[in-house]
Amino acid sequence: MAKTKRIGILTAGGDSPGLNAAIRGVGKTALGFYGMEIIGFRDGFRGLVEDRKLKLDRSTLSGILTVGGTILGTSRDKPHRMVIDGRTRDMTKVICENYDKYGLDALVCLGGGGTQKNALRLHEAGLNVITLPKTIDNDVAMTDATFGFATAMDIATETIDRLHSTAHSHHRVIIAEIMGHRAGWLTLGSGIAGGADVILIPEIPYDVEKISAAIKQRSRHGTNFSIVAVAEGAMSKDDARALAAAEKKLERARTLHDKKEAKIELATLDVRHTGNTMRLAKQLEDLTQLESRVTILGYVQRGGTPSAADRLLATRLGSACGDLIHEGIFGVMVAARGDGTEPVPLEKVAGKRKAVPPDHQWVETARKVGTCLGD
Ligand code: F6P
Repeated sequence: MAKTKRIGILTAGGDSPGLNAAIRGVGKTALGFYGMEIIGFRDGFRGLVEDRKLKLDRSTLSGILTVGGTILGTSRDKPHRMVIDGRTRDMTKVICENYDKYGLDALVCLGGGGTQKNALRLHEAGLNVITLPKTIDNDVAMTDATFGFATAMDIATETIDRLHSTAHSHHRVIIAEIMGHRAGWLTLGSGIAGGADVILIPEIPYDVEKISAAIKQRSRHGTNFSIVAVAEGAMSKDDARALAAAEKKLERARTLHDKKEAKIELATLDVRHTGNTMRLAKQLEDLTQLESRVTILGYVQRGGTPSAADRLLATRLGSACGDLIHEGIFGVMVAARGDGTEPVPLEKVAGKRKAVPPDHQWVETARKVGTCLGD
């Protein structure tokens, strides 16, 4: 009789709505449809190192479809650089040994860009790894979409809707800072859906004079308020130049084994710029003579129940993952492709980021409806 397949599953990186729906999708397909066993590891790759697990059976997989967060817990730990007892260590070997100890036939890793890289490393170390793309940033390469994004976009859009009435009543500029330190999908999508007057994303560095000109033009036409949707990683043209120079310096320093100075410089230009958002508000207030306020959406965007779109996507990807394990296909990410799914080799995903192309249709749409993109 063939041995029952046993699979491990973990969630890594920042949490994202739809993780539980995906765990359930993988679990119900693997367990109910193919008769496999499934073990959950707690807090990302750390659970696999520290022997912290949770047997996933019918009852644990039940009732989690609509629940936010992840029942497994998550962490940003990397297998090859994990802090153990205050020391940073490469735990790849331990993970491989534990994989064998538990008799796993496959390891499913649910995560964003970082997780795809870590999963590839484990696959190269000999494990049967398969991944699913999750992140509210929607910036994982080679997939049409990531789960979590649709829910976060709904939340950000609702926030922009609500800010309209108060901005209008007080004749203010309200700046909504939306997550996305390297990619602007969430800000662009919710900005268009919510009708923001200005949308600023990391991929299109801004000129504050241009933003102020757009706001003043609205005032001249009798509209004395504006909503600015800004991604946390959006930056001015000057900052973008400085960041590019610092990144180059770090790259050079890497080869010279002298990273300290370049790292300090890069840290001061950290791409998560709540400070930049505050500075932008002050600049716009000075330039437009309209009172300016900031609303930082923060972790509200990642919390709570997933939207119907995310539940559907996560379930589809999870279930397709179960099929691929059954077929013995590993070293791939299960990508969303149109109405279907597609296994994409991890080598094609790891280390790449899906940024918003400057000529993307969403960008052109925003411009055509008169939105200022700050450039
Ligand atoms: O990667 C998703 C994301 O939500 C980013 O948009 C954000 O900058 C980051 O995670 C913050 O996450 P944490 O504070 O949990 O590291």
